[in-house]
Amino acid sequence: MSTLSLDTPLLVIGAGIMGAGIAQVAAQAGHPVWLYDLREGAAAQALDKLAGGLQALEAKGKLAAGQAQAIAARIRVAGTLEDAAGAGLVVEAIVENVGAKRSLFAQLEGLLSPDAILATNTSSISITAIAQGLKRPRQVVGMHFFNPVPLMKLVEVVSGLETAPAVAEAIHALASAWGKTAVHARSTPGFIVNRIARPYYAETWALLQEQAATPAAIDAALRGAGFRMGPCELMDLIGHDTNLAVTESVYQANYGDKRFQPSLLQRELVDGGLLGRKSGRGFYDHAAGAATPVL
Ligand code: NAI
Repeated sequence: MSTLSLDTPLLVIGAGIMGAGIAQVAAQAGHPVWLYDLREGAAAQALDKLAGGLQALEAKGKLAAGQAQAIAARIRVAGTLEDAAGAGLVVEAIVENVGAKRSLFAQLEGLLSPDAILATNTSSISITAIAQGLKRPRQVVGMHFFNPVPLMKLVEVVSGLETAPAVAEAIHALASAWGKTAVHARSTPGFIVNRIARPYYAETWALLQEQAATPAAIDAALRGAGFRMGPCELMDLIGHDTNLAVTESVYQANYGDKRFQPSLLQRELVDGGLLGRKSGRGFYDHAAGAATPVL
């Protein structure tokens, strides 16, 4: 039986948008956390930014005095994966690519204890496919957070064909202990939320390609209809590179079903480095926190 507790050492791999958020939430729940990124300096930079964000929350009275420092102190940068060999749980949030995720997990199997759970934050890739060829596919599970991780309640707990039920249960219980709303799903392309959201984005791209409305008009319309964010500002938040990779993965997994087809305009944004908030420009220019339309 796989058990996890709030003091299980956690290794978060990938210190981008999602990894930094996952590290923060885990440290807030009490875990000692290692944060690792392949890119030199990325984990330290993410930790600095995260610590600054926690200080700002403390200044606003949303964290008790001293809490920001205490939470940030639970997170350590791992210079190499070997530094984090004591982890009982890994959550990977690296690039949305099955080969990269599978080879990372294969490497971790050689480093971590056989009981360690290997969780992936993939938005769309089959959990069964990530586990394929590994020594311990029963330990592999999806733990899919939503952006921004500290604010969004949902965690999809995704089981591949070989995931042990006890592993999925342990992740469900842990996510609940972190204050999240955990939902079980079987591994199908896009799981629950991205399965439903892909055609929503696809229709947005179709409207844009038809020049039926500007991104700002589409966002204003959907906000006015009661959505918390419009689809264009949401895609800027997600990151167009990641969002395109997810769309391509769901499209391929559905044997090229038109409903999930990526858009040429989406590809253009990525090729132009207009990745959204993370690069400063996407549909909007995000300089100094303001969102002014680019397209
Ligand atoms: P990101 O591009 O912000 O960060 C990815 C980080 O992983 C980068 O810092 C990169 O240097 C690092 N990295 C890449 N390959 C690596 C490797 N082999 N080992 C260690 N580090 C490596 O990406 P983001 O948005 O954080 O996405 C990460 C994962 O989370 C993807 O699988 C994505 O589909 C998923 N996800 C993304 C969401 C979003 O809204 N952006 C929402 C939910 C899931």
